Amino acid sequence: MDLRYEAREAGEAAHQEIRSSRTLDEIEAIRVRFLGRKGILTLLLRKLGAVGPEDRKELGGLLNQVKNEITSVLEARLGELKQAAYSEGLAREALDITLPGRKARIGRLHPTLAVMDHLVDIFVGMGFTPVEGPEVESEYNNFDALNFPPWHPSRDEHDSFYVGEGYVLRTHTSPAQIRVMKSQPPPVRVVVPGRCHRRDTPDASHVVSFHQIEGLYVDYEVSMADLKGTLTAFAREFFGPETKVRFRPHFFPFTEPSAELDISCLVCGGKGCRLCKNSGWLEVLGCGMVHPNVFDHVGYDRQSVTGFAFGLGVERMAMLRYGINDMRLLYENDIRFLNQF
Ligand code: PHE
Repeated sequence: MDLRYEAREAGEAAHQEIRSSRTLDEIEAIRVRFLGRKGILTLLLRKLGAVGPEDRKELGGLLNQVKNEITSVLEARLGELKQAAYSEGLAREALDITLPGRKARIGRLHPTLAVMDHLVDIFVGMGFTPVEGPEVESEYNNFDALNFPPWHPSRDEHDSFYVGEGYVLRTHTSPAQIRVMKSQPPPVRVVVPGRCHRRDTPDASHVVSFHQIEGLYVDYEVSMADLKGTLTAFAREFFGPETKVRFRPHFFPFTEPSAELDISCLVCGGKGCRLCKNSGWLEVLGCGMVHPNVFDHVGYDRQSVTGFAFGLGVERMAMLRYGINDMRLLYENDIRFLNQF
């Protein structure tokens, strides 16, 4: 067969195959088939030896030209395919950095906990050390050691959660007084934040689980004046410097004398309004001088030590501070409510 014809045929076939090639592997196969050691062009060049000298130069030039053309078209296609593969890879891995990011939702402290932290901070500033006690408490610490008589109504199963023989979910943070005094000699100056439980029917000012902060200061010369000074300073710090206070006689089994601290109404300032039920005063916490019987229970000398204690409701403080009119709102976890604080 005519070498010229074969060369042209091979060139055309190669061009066509190269143009329709889709992958780098296909290109490589084409290269091997046409230009490889046993490729079509190589075989044609080998046939040159049999051609007469008069045609050899021309035919050799033609074959080399075809070979060079195939090589350059092949290279060009190879470049295209590599570029395409690269672009495709880029497209696949593309990250649209112009998309707005997902906003991290930042939480915050629940108002009850925020207020509890604030309250504790105020007492820390006055030299009190924060400590904690357990929620499951012995009946002895919760009642007996605090001088509650056996017949006291708050011991009733209707009022307290009993958890097995002799144990109760603490109904106040006062049992921590017993734990602290039993664990160290005087002086004692602690605040005890924590959760308490009572079998109350929930309403606007009662929930079953709530928080208190207990305060206890015991030393050799603590007087009622210290109690009044400390709690007055506290009330002015928490409710504002204009706040007026009054200590109203009250009863607790574990303090004597006992009092409740009232502050001038936050809404009317004392003139009388709906919040203070026209009294001008708001009840804030219970307090008193530690009862000598309590000292007996913890092994302190009732003749030489004196002290004061107080207990406040954290939810009530949060309500007063933020003007919340229903305690249950603090337990519903409604984001629309919580977002306001
Ligand atoms: N434990 C009392 C209560 O829960 C509050 C209190 C604490 C009163 C300490 C006096 C002294 O009501």
